[in-house]
Amino acid sequence: GCREPFASRLLAWWERHGRHDLPWQHPRTPYRVWVSEIMLQQTQVATVIPYFERWMERFPALPDLAGAALDDVLSHWSGLGYYARARNLHKAAVNCMAQFGGELPTTPEQLQELPGIGASTANAIVSQSQDVPAAVLDGNVRRVLARHACVEEWTGSTAAQKTLWAEAEKRLPNRRGADYTQAVMDLGAIVCTRSRPACGDCPVNGDCRALAANAVNRLPAPKPA
Ligand code: ADE
Repeated sequence: GCREPFASRLLAWWERHGRHDLPWQHPRTPYRVWVSEIMLQQTQVATVIPYFERWMERFPALPDLAGAALDDVLSHWSGLGYYARARNLHKAAVNCMAQFGGELPTTPEQLQELPGIGASTANAIVSQSQDVPAAVLDGNVRRVLARHACVEEWTGSTAAQKTLWAEAEKRLPNRRGADYTQAVMDLGAIVCTRSRPACGDCPVNGDCRALAANAVNRLPAPKPA
């Protein structure tokens, strides 16, 4: 029930209903998680999967990516769109060769210095590859939190961002950081969808403030005109 922490209820749901077979989960290495997170920034999971598989065949580890010609990298991205993401992956890999001995750095601060990696992506990489709790705030998670905490402002505003990061931190578990990151993203993708969310199936509906206020369908609020 509601007395169990948010993370416990969510993780129990994820065991039964979440996604456990995504290619970047097996094995969950920093390089594989990084590439997947960049691909997933603006592209849906189903589209990403075959690109991810081809990418890992051609560039199985970070030094393979760093050593490749940009044309080769871009051709493996062809069709995914937002090509700056592929250029940034390549540039970041080159930087990692020079600065970090051919591996991704391990702290969120160092990761955020690499091109293409913001605060949420850095924490997504750290939480999933090191299995430590770290808050993420991508589009799916913003929607989950805007509803569960009933954040009424447009989620792009500075004030809402600050609130949402704090709400994300509050809900983190002490352990199972990797599973939790996947679980909160899966909740947004599977249950707490933008249109017609399945609130009856939600593991955290008992204390969802938007549900109680009959505000689920108007949250997250659109950008003011
Ligand atoms: N979007 C961003 N990261 C994701 C992940 N690990 N699984 C599913 N969707 C995502």
